[in-house]
Amino acid sequence: MSQIILGIETSCDETSASIVKNGREILSNVVSSQIESHKRFGGVVPEIASRHHVEQITYILEQAMVEGNVTFDDIDAIAVTEGPGLVGALLVGVNAAKALAFAHKKPLVGVHHIAGHIYANHIVEELTFPLLTLVVSGGHTELVYMKDHGSFEVIGETRDDAVGEAYDKVARTLGLPYPGGPHIDRLAHEGDATIPLPRAWLEEGSFDFSFSGLKSAVINTLHNAKQKGETLPVENVAASFQESVIEVLVKKTMDAAEEKKVDRILLAGGVAANKGLRRELTATCEEKGLRLTIPPLSLCTDNAAMIAAAGSIMYDLGRRSDDRLNGRPGLELK
Ligand code: KG4
Ligand code: ZN
Repeated sequence: MSQIILGIETSCDETSASIVKNGREILSNVVSSQIESHKRFGGVVPEIASRHHVEQITYILEQAMVEGNVTFDDIDAIAVTEGPGLVGALLVGVNAAKALAFAHKKPLVGVHHIAGHIYANHIVEELTFPLLTLVVSGGHTELVYMKDHGSFEVIGETRDDAVGEAYDKVARTLGLPYPGGPHIDRLAHEGDATIPLPRAWLEEGSFDFSFSGLKSAVINTLHNAKQKGETLPVENVAASFQESVIEVLVKKTMDAAEEKKVDRILLAGGVAANKGLRRELTATCEEKGLRLTIPPLSLCTDNAAMIAAAGSIMYDLGRRSDDRLNGRPGLELK
C-alpha cells in the first residue's frame, strides 16, 4: 500500500509545502523564498518572516495539493517542522498543520528541521545504516551519527558560529549581498588561497567545530589591509576563507567516520550547495572508499519535501504529535 505525506516547512525564510509518496517520491515541492524581502536588512528579520509565512501558507498548501494531484482523502499524515527555528515562523507552519489535521482527521507528525535536511538524502538514495551526516546550514554545523532510521546521535557541533553564518558574515564584510554563501563560493573559484588563515581543530579527538576565530581573522585581515591603504583581491579572500572551512569540515568528517566505523556519508543543509565542499568531500570519500550521498541543490536549501520524507519514516515508526504540538525554537535532535 502506498503512503502519502503532506510536509510543511516554515522555520526560517522559506514557506514550503510538499507531497511525498512512500517517503521518497516527490509529487510536489512548492517553495516560496522571502530572500528578496530580507536582502536590504542583510539578514532574516523575524517579524517580516512571520508575516510572509502568514500571507503565503494557504496558497503554497493549495498549490502543493494541486501539483501533487492529491486530495485530503489521499493523505495519510501531515508532517511539519516543529523546531528549531524562529518561533514566530515555526508557529505559522505548526498551526496550519494542526488546523488541517483537525479538520481532516489526519495524524500529525512533528519533525526536527535537521532530521529533514538529513532525510533529503533518502529521496536521492535509500538510506542504509550505520551512517554519518555532515550537517552544514545557516543555523547548524553538526556531525550526526545514525545507527538506524529515526535515531540521531550528535557527535560534534559548532561551539560558536554555524558555517553558513560565518559565510554570511564574511560576505557582509566584503560588501556582498545576503545570503553571502553562494557569492563567496563563486568568487572562491575565481581566486587563489593566498592569505594565511587559521584552522580551528580544537582538542585532539573532538568532533566539535568553531568558526568565529576564522571569521574574525578574515575581518581583521581586511581591516589591516585597509589601514595600510592596500586592497586585497576579494576573490583571494573568498578562496582563502573557503579553503580553511572546507579543510576542517572534511577532515573532521573523515576522522569521525573512522572512529564510528561507518562507510556511508551524507551531506546536508544549505551549505551543502557549496561547490568547493561538494568537490572536496566527493574526492576524499572516493579516495577512502566511502559511499557519499549529496542532495541536488533544490533539496539542500530549506524545503518541505525533506520534512515529508523524514515525517514518512517517523510516521512508520509510530511517532505522533497531538494538538499540543508547538513551535520549539531550541528543539534538540535525538
Ligand atoms: O539550510 P539553509 O537553507 O537554512 C538554514 O536552515 O539555516 O542554509 C542557508 C545557508 C545560508 O547561510 C547561505 O549563505 C548558505 O546556506 N549557502 C551557502 C551556499 N548556498 C547557500 N554557503 C556556502 N556556499 C554556497 N554555495
Ligand atoms: Zn535549513
